[in-house]
Amino acid sequence: MISTRAVIGLAVAFCPLALACGDSPERERLDFERMRLQQRYDLYGKSGVFANHQSMQAPPTGTVTRESALDTGAAGTGMSGGQPVASVPVSLTPAQLVLGERKFTIYCAVCHGAGGFGGSIVAENMGPPRPPSLRSDSLAARPDGYIFDVATHGKGRMPAYAVELTPMERWAVIGYIRMLQQSRTLTPAQRADSLRAAAIHSSDSLFSETPRAAGAFP
Ligand code: HEC
Repeated sequence: MISTRAVIGLAVAFCPLALACGDSPERERLDFERMRLQQRYDLYGKSGVFANHQSMQAPPTGTVTRESALDTGAAGTGMSGGQPVASVPVSLTPAQLVLGERKFTIYCAVCHGAGGFGGSIVAENMGPPRPPSLRSDSLAARPDGYIFDVATHGKGRMPAYAVELTPMERWAVIGYIRMLQQSRTLTPAQRADSLRAAAIHSSDSLFSETPRAAGAFP
């Protein structure tokens, strides 16, 4: 029987001759093998290099994560001088707007609807006060920092999203909401959201109670 080692040895020996083996599964396997067998420390392993003999070392004092370095000041709070910032304080690339759309679809559309009209199934079943439309004139006039603050801390029945979304992702979502507010075309899901929102509004207005004058009924 030929041992694995011998097979590897043969393959290594013949590869320079056979150009075709560049992308072969055998070549892939060899590369993987080399990674697996390389010298490295195991987690919680012993190290002869460091004074405390631990392979895992604490980061030097004052080390900041890449994320926290990006998220200081207005980019991390949405506030400047105690006021919500007027516009997104980080530059959003087209790829980040696509990310914003994805995160909006995952975290916000369940309540605010695929198009931000507030016509989600959740809104339909929640009862007033329901998740509002994110396309209202009043929200369009609010500063971006306000939306960031709501996404970060929540509001009323809306939960906070500071754990699920990094500050950068929250800004990307806001960039996408601003795009939605200006968009004049609808996908089928957004159209369904718009129609359901209209139905919810008309039934809410039918059933909203007008306060009765005291003593009108016994
Ligand atoms: C569980 C349902 C739910 C989800 C999910 C949700 N919201 Fe809300 N949202 C609400 C409700 C309810 C309100 C109304 C809160 C109030 O005014 O009492 C609201 C209010 C808001 C407002 C304030 C609107 C205004 O006109 O002042 C913004 C902005 C907002 N949400 C953004 C978001 C964003 C961004 C996400 C996703 C990261 C999100 N929401 C996810 C339920 C939700």
